[in-house]
Amino acid sequence: MDFPMFHLDWLNDRFLIAVIAIVHVFINHGLAVGFIPYIAWLEQKGVRMAGAADITDPEWDHLIYRKMKVAFIITTTLGAMTGVGIWFSAGLISPSSIGSLIRVFYFAWFVEWLTFVTEVVLIMIYFLTWKQSNHSLKAKIRHIRFGWFLSIFSWITMCIIVSILGFMMDPGNWNNDHSLISGFTNPIYLPQLFFRTPTAMVLGGVFGMLLTTLFASRNSKWRETALKDGARWMLCWAPVSLAAAIIYYKAMPEAMRENLSTAVGTMEFAQYYDLLRYIIPGAVSLVVVLGVWTWLRPRSVRMWMVLVPCIAAFGFLGIFERVREFIRKPYVIGGYMYSNLLRKEDYPLYKRNGLLTYATYATAGKVTPENKLSTGQDVFMLSCSRCHTTNGINSIVYVFERLYGVGKPLDENSVAAYIPNMHQGRTYMPPFPGNTEELHALAAYIKHLQVTGESLEGAQSAGVMVNPDNNMHNTQPLADTAQSK
Ligand code: HEC
Repeated sequence: MDFPMFHLDWLNDRFLIAVIAIVHVFINHGLAVGFIPYIAWLEQKGVRMAGAADITDPEWDHLIYRKMKVAFIITTTLGAMTGVGIWFSAGLISPSSIGSLIRVFYFAWFVEWLTFVTEVVLIMIYFLTWKQSNHSLKAKIRHIRFGWFLSIFSWITMCIIVSILGFMMDPGNWNNDHSLISGFTNPIYLPQLFFRTPTAMVLGGVFGMLLTTLFASRNSKWRETALKDGARWMLCWAPVSLAAAIIYYKAMPEAMRENLSTAVGTMEFAQYYDLLRYIIPGAVSLVVVLGVWTWLRPRSVRMWMVLVPCIAAFGFLGIFERVREFIRKPYVIGGYMYSNLLRKEDYPLYKRNGLLTYATYATAGKVTPENKLSTGQDVFMLSCSRCHTTNGINSIVYVFERLYGVGKPLDENSVAAYIPNMHQGRTYMPPFPGNTEELHALAAYIKHLQVTGESLEGAQSAGVMVNPDNNMHNTQPLADTAQSK
């Protein structure tokens, strides 16, 4: 509540983060973490295959170089931009949660920054010195070593971020002792890292095979060997990925049961969970079938035969990320901060004194008959707008109409009766944070939206209004929270 609310009414705020984040994960896992070691391995293989008089096989080396060129261009442009874009969009939409995460993970993020800069320098060196390094065996071996260094640094950047992702799902002991170490070693961290590593390798391999079918024509000398190597790479990693997925899913519901039991039982989750149960084995079997087929009959492999498992594998990763985000609800940081950016421990204050009393940006601090609609809009912005729009994706009018009949005029009292209980039936939603007057103002505003079809502008276009009644010092703290402070 300390930040003005950015809001994209036509899109849905969470959707913006999701799109940028999923593109980034595709690139990070498929073209960096899993792809670079595959490239370094193939480059090394070129040196081993060359005759005694040569440094490497020029044709083979050129094929691998062209694959690396694709990864270089995409990772340093779209990859880097979406990486920064995640933090920009999350910082806009969810500033309080990013603020908390930075306070907890300050040093981890600092190390992440150093690692990332090193990674960028290494990828520059690796790609830009590739051709020069072919002049002497010593230079070539040094170059390959840079490929392995780059692989390690790409993996370390992922290692750090995965800890933060795990933390948001289940902070483990951090909720008691608030230390970086217990935050970093949260219960979901290692299972998730163990799952992401081989999965990234499978993605890197299948994407590499796709590039082979594009860059090595059918009469090219190395096409079959390169395809078989891709198959070998995938067949090595796919079983590890499957085993790790099972371990991860075993680890997750248990941790979820303790802290996030509310998120597991939802209808949406059940649907995704089912989908996931088919998609994981489906994508893995497609990759394995492709691997075995290529191993046995490399000549017959066509581009589309690689494209289908490639899309399935990337699709699987996308769904995995979506589920990971969903089961965390109603929290943005498990057990600590709800997805509406309000801390759980502050709820008793909001309930007693009203949410708007504590809002830095609002049209008023108290609901009156005159300001009911504008304060209702403030309450919507503060407690629903991170997940609902007025008439875009997951529109608040639509979800109420779905309950009470599409096109039928909403009844303010039924809406007001539903909201205080919404977190019980739909456990992915946080409880309503405000007092009774705010509840009725919100219901009146939702009804008003249905009648007028009005849309809601975020602070970025509507500007901000500092709450004229915000006077934190005059509000009496609750006895119990005063003691715990
Ligand atoms: C953490 C995100 C989140 C927040 C915050 C949130 N909702 Fe929801 N809400 C959802 C999701 C997700 C759905 C399910 C949409 C669907 O099924 O298509 C939903 C569904 C609903 C439904 C329909 C429930 C049903 O049984 O079909 C209502 C009504 C609703 N929300 C009202 C609200 C109100 C009012 C607020 C603010 C006080 C709010 N929500 C805050 C995520 C949220």
